[in-house]
Amino acid sequence: MDQTIERAGNFLPRVDESAGNPNAVDRRVVSLTAPASAAAEQYRSLYYRLERLREVKPMRIIALTSAMPGEGKTVTAVNLALAAARANPERRILLIDADLRRSQVGTVLGIRGKSGLAELLAGECEVRDVIRRFHGTRLAVIPAGSTPEEPTQVLASARMKQFLQAVRENFEEVYIDLPPTLPFADAAILGHQMDGVIMVVRANVTPMQAVNQAVEQLGGAPILGSVLNGAEVNSTPYLKNYMKK
Ligand SMILES: Nc1ncnc2c1ncn2[C@@H]1O[C@H](COP(=O)(O)OP(=O)(O)O)[C@@H](O)[C@H]1O
Ligand SMILES: [Mg+2]
Repeated sequence: MDQTIERAGNFLPRVDESAGNPNAVDRRVVSLTAPASAAAEQYRSLYYRLERLREVKPMRIIALTSAMPGEGKTVTAVNLALAAARANPERRILLIDADLRRSQVGTVLGIRGKSGLAELLAGECEVRDVIRRFHGTRLAVIPAGSTPEEPTQVLASARMKQFLQAVRENFEEVYIDLPPTLPFADAAILGHQMDGVIMVVRANVTPMQAVNQAVEQLGGAPILGSVLNGAEVNSTPYLKNYMKK
């Protein structure tokens, strides 16, 4: 596997250029569709916060999770990875969809093709078969593929560990869209293999207790902090005043 990804790292030999079709991108991918918007600015600011943390502690693999489904992990992961690719176009950056049950990365980025991480971990294909480059950027993307029968087992496998080791060696920044923490063991199992974990919290939706429980379930995983997703501009006085100008 190492050798395969080595080739992929030098860089993405067989990319399907039509894979990430900008016309098929979800409009919530503001880092691409509206880079000048206040929302895109928030993702850039999140990215630069990570950059500052990296000055203190080098971190390659950053994962996003949340207590429950539907809190904005995918929207955040995709925008963050695109903000990273825009900010540092010379870096090798990879976005992986590891939410094998409710995969959305391929859909929001307009990526076609069925195979992804699931097929890779099942040993049905090689990294070069599942890695795509997002249109017009050097951002590499590995979609989730089809839902396996036992997603937790697949993500907890030695193959996954090997795969993470290989991407760590071949990419400078890796963003992983993880499953939600409370319903499944996946995030807790993978959390420890990450350099940093960001907890996405849906504003006015996620109960505080659920967030606390999720953090507890992640055990000693390196949680960097949380992102409040879907906050109304009106609830943030600073932003509100700023936007009036
Ligand atoms: N900040 C946001 N503003 C508006 N809609 C959002 C925002 N974040 C997420 N959504 C929408 O909420 C739904 C769930 O978001 P998603 O990122 O898919 O959640 P998760 O990956 O945590 O399940 C999607 O329809 C998405 O487009
Ligand atoms: Mg998702």
